[in-house]
Amino acid sequence: MKVLVTGGAGYIGSHVVRHLLESGHEVVVYDNLSTGHAWAVGDAELIEADLADQERLRSVLQAGKFDGVLHFAAHIVVPESVSHPVKYYANNTRNTLNLLECCQEAGVRYFVFSSTAAVYGIPDTASVAEDAPLQPINPYGASKMMSERMLMDLGAASDLRYVSLRYFNVAGADPEGRQGQATPDATHLIKVACQAATGQRGGITVFGTDYDTADGTCERDYIHVEDLASAHVRALDYLEQGGESQVLNCGYGCAYSVLQVLEAVKRVSGVDFEVHYGERREGDPPALMADAGRIRKVLGWQPKYDNLDQIVADALAWERHCLSRGLL
Ligand code: UFG
Repeated sequence: MKVLVTGGAGYIGSHVVRHLLESGHEVVVYDNLSTGHAWAVGDAELIEADLADQERLRSVLQAGKFDGVLHFAAHIVVPESVSHPVKYYANNTRNTLNLLECCQEAGVRYFVFSSTAAVYGIPDTASVAEDAPLQPINPYGASKMMSERMLMDLGAASDLRYVSLRYFNVAGADPEGRQGQATPDATHLIKVACQAATGQRGGITVFGTDYDTADGTCERDYIHVEDLASAHVRALDYLEQGGESQVLNCGYGCAYSVLQVLEAVKRVSGVDFEVHYGERREGDPPALMADAGRIRKVLGWQPKYDNLDQIVADALAWERHCLSRGLL
């Protein structure tokens, strides 16, 4: 298939681009390089452009005759979405609408959307299934929920079929060191902890120790970026084989607290970096864990890296690799 990948120079997008190329797809990346890197797209064609530039987007989609679009480009930092909601609705919701409009005009048949577990808000159950109520507690989750809704309505009204993948907490890096998280000023827990372990930061602050969880810190379902990437290729194949539109959780169904993650990073790195205990961060749900059955059933997806120490080891190796090559 010929596919357009928005945000393909970013962290998750670039891993998926590599998997798509390895599976024989023709890949064009559309990315404004605001947080991504040209080196991350490998052999794919890169169009440096913004999704807000709808004329450019329209002409790329009209000229390219793409079978499918994978849409990663978005802002992704929960606390930033609380302080800058318009930035999130503009880039995540309005630009998704721009994109869907252009896809419709260009007759794109398949769409794979990067959604998020943040659409659930604070779930009523320990593990959350796809049919749980959508009650986002931050603008990031709300911006993605609205995009899911637009996609659903467009899917109902046209021939477009889609898979919305609701990511839980994505971490790790390509075990062969070709790609990893290289976002400037990253805020995500495993990345920040690995930067502390490699001396790039003085330490790390735990945001809140008084949650109603086993050790008082937030619990999350961490998924290796390589497993997430393989889910995207399967989603695309599924659509090509005639599968109907789906919304699928992407997680392992296993949660770790912030303290457990920090222990793992210390154990795997052998570095006892400093840990400070701070206030809660705005917009954080106490616990999020996937009910991860549906994606296995529908896509036949089998994770290969379902192991926190492996996720941490690959994330650490990536930090060291970047340091030694001056990539960050
Ligand atoms: N945390 C710290 N210290 C840090 C960084 C994070 O204590 O320096 C804590 C956070 O407060 C939170 C947990 O670690 O409790 C995980 O935080 P991340 O920033 O790593 O990830 P989030 O859970 O906020 O968000 C991520 C993605 C979203 C996705 C969400 C689903 O960015 O796209 O996971 O859980 F929706």
